[in-house]
Amino acid sequence: MFQLPRGTRDFTPEEMEKRRYIKENMTSTFRSFGYEEIQTPTFETLELFTAKSGDLIVDEIYAFSDKGGRELALRPELTAPVIRFYVEKMQMEPKPLKLFYFGNCFRYDRPQKGRYREFWQSGCEILGTDTPEAYAELVAMAYTVLKNVGLNDIKLSIGNLTILHSIFTKLGLSKDDQKQLFPLIDKSQFEDILSLLLDCNIKPKDAEHFIYMLEKSDINEVKEFIKNDRSAMGELSNMETLLDLLKSSFNVKDFQIKLSIVRGLDYYKGLVFEIDAPILGAEKQLCGGGAYDLVKLFGGRDTPTAGFAIGFDRTLLALEIEKFSFSSSKADVYIIPVNEEAIKKSIEISQHLRKQGVLTDIDLLRRGASKSLKYANAKKVEKAIIVGPKELEKASVTLRDMETGDQEIVKIEDLIFRLKK
Ligand code: HAM
Repeated sequence: MFQLPRGTRDFTPEEMEKRRYIKENMTSTFRSFGYEEIQTPTFETLELFTAKSGDLIVDEIYAFSDKGGRELALRPELTAPVIRFYVEKMQMEPKPLKLFYFGNCFRYDRPQKGRYREFWQSGCEILGTDTPEAYAELVAMAYTVLKNVGLNDIKLSIGNLTILHSIFTKLGLSKDDQKQLFPLIDKSQFEDILSLLLDCNIKPKDAEHFIYMLEKSDINEVKEFIKNDRSAMGELSNMETLLDLLKSSFNVKDFQIKLSIVRGLDYYKGLVFEIDAPILGAEKQLCGGGAYDLVKLFGGRDTPTAGFAIGFDRTLLALEIEKFSFSSSKADVYIIPVNEEAIKKSIEISQHLRKQGVLTDIDLLRRGASKSLKYANAKKVEKAIIVGPKELEKASVTLRDMETGDQEIVKIEDLIFRLKK
């Protein structure tokens, strides 16, 4: 017996049906905002991912060399691949360019519920604009995608790395100190942050004020603190416009400002945001995104970029825990030839119904009426069509409602009208 590699999963037909529903629903929301779908390969050159993050990332991803000695990696995410694609082939496209994607990603994570080594992301990138309305639309779309898919309880948090850096600079923290602080800030470990700040010779009063600003995330308080930093003040003013648009124009009112969002990946700057599903517990982050810089690093002409990715598997987990009722698209009808002579006509009927858009299955085991009805019942098919010689003489079949057991003789030419009624 062979076993699945650790952190990977098989999906049953029932699971695939739920996943298909989510994908179709998300696709229609992305498209409703003017985004277009693209696809990139499952593996890329390793350098694409180390270029920004450095060699340390190799420990966290599936990296390998192929038979030609090329250093490759299974993609751990899709933003770097999309920007590679953009720089190579899409720079001349009219701006803004709005792209969305679905794809499997691979990370050498420690597997647990909601955290896998192969998982799926749905995400998007917008290129060529950084207006507050573009970013408000981006954040609103992330929220709307998750709401439209059927989730009730999600929490949107918005932060800004330029503003956070400005606070760091005012405090006099070196780049190395900042690097050490990031993981603590990410996990809101305020006591550890305080002791690290004190170790960095920050005055206790300033350290406590910093933590207060992080926890409170009060825009006016922050404004007062960074008022001499013109670039950060510009960013703050854009953020205020974004927040206002979110509330008043996109009707997304349920969010919090959270300056402690630092994001794990190295390419972010400016706007950052996350959406959690608290019902998921430890692995509750459903979506993460923000503005970032990669185009120039990959050899393109500098242009603003932002985006987000949603954990597809976690979205499904959250829907299941919320007891979302997934509609089923099982076959609408099951056709049962009662004997060998009825097989040809049964196939003809099934082909006719399929052309008319009816999901049609047919008995392929020649197991006769009663066993076939049992099978149709187990498969939760709505209607069975029993094709027997007596009825065929009158160009008719028996139509059975699988729920009530009611049966009627229906002319073959009228079948489609009866089924669509
Ligand atoms: P990320 O936060 O690393 O961002 O991943 C996005 C989402 O993928 C997470 O919020 C989570 O739901 C899901 N996810 C991450 N790792 C795992 C895992 N091991 N198992 C299951 N789900 C997981 C990015 O990947 C960025 N590329 C997002 C982005 C797009 N930023 C700008 N554009």
